[in-house]
Amino acid sequence: MAKIDVQGFGTYNIENGKKLVLALEDNGIDILHRCGGKARCTTCRVEVLSGDLGPIGDKEANIIETKGLSGNVRLSCQICVSSDASIKPVLTVSSEGLDAGPRPTDECE
Ligand code: FES
Repeated sequence: MAKIDVQGFGTYNIENGKKLVLALEDNGIDILHRCGGKARCTTCRVEVLSGDLGPIGDKEANIIETKGLSGNVRLSCQICVSSDASIKPVLTVSSEGLDAGPRPTDECE
């Protein structure tokens, strides 16, 4: 289990290996995932306030660079929870007025 503190929402115990975007959604956080977890839209992005969300993969690194995102931004659809962290969702259904998008698959790469 990992303890994930989500600023503005609460602190959740998440099983190791669960995809972060699904952990957020399944705990009632209305995070966007407009491309369905394919590392294309970046709407699932979170700001990492502390902790370690694991290594960043090529797909994630490339789209973050292409979109010019800066700071401690990670894509929650590309993260398999493995240790404690504190994060802040950036875009949500309620903040953007958009449909969340298709649910990403459960498999964590
Ligand atoms: S990049 Fe689209 S859901 Fe994560």
